[in-house]
Amino acid sequence: IPAEHFSERVLSWFDLHGRKNLPWQQNKTPYRVWISEIMLQQTQVTTVIPYYQRFMTSFPTVEDLAKASEDEVLAHWSGLGYYARARNLHKAAKKLVDEYDSEFPLTVEGVCELSGIGRSTAAAILSISRGVQAAILDGNVKRVLARFHAVSTWPGEKKTETMMWDVAEQYVPADRPGDYTQAMMDLGATLCTRSKPQCLLCPIKEDCAALKMGLPTNFPIKKVK
Ligand code: ADE
Repeated sequence: IPAEHFSERVLSWFDLHGRKNLPWQQNKTPYRVWISEIMLQQTQVTTVIPYYQRFMTSFPTVEDLAKASEDEVLAHWSGLGYYARARNLHKAAKKLVDEYDSEFPLTVEGVCELSGIGRSTAAAILSISRGVQAAILDGNVKRVLARFHAVSTWPGEKKTETMMWDVAEQYVPADRPGDYTQAMMDLGATLCTRSKPQCLLCPIKEDCAALKMGLPTNFPIKKVK
């Protein structure tokens, strides 16, 4: 289907069912969105909320984070796990202040120069906070797209990865790229789940190739155990 129809359906669903009142969805600066994306990488939304609030109270700006001690930053992470995330945040904050005059880069390539930020996270930050037309491809979005197109090649393969990025980029709308990013994450997290997808509620069910085959959970393909 045409890319405009895909994003229109996803955005209309988001307007009705997406989450729009989480703490990091207020005052969407690159700094605030960055911290939320890193916290949300391996942690559930409900767990992240109080950590995010405490972190923002103690380190309201990138300068505050840069001048804190690593121990102070790690103390705010205590209980969240994957502590490399906190060390990378601190390192990147210092680089932003020292080398970028505290200004977030405006390109995916530029943001990827910061510790702990890969292509998908960079695109999430820039689309949500700056309205940059950049595609994300995290685990949830990979699953949505693999099902929609019934991708039958191995997810870990380079050529599959390249093809999925091309597909992801083709669908990002010029208008409302940030809401589209959030919508795709919410769709993967709430409807197009790994084991029990709620296809009846899905805004793109009419054109989902995996659903047409009657086999949504067979994609992305997996090794037999
Ligand atoms: N996981 C990573 N980023 C997220 C976001 N912006 N919303 C919900 N879950 C996420």
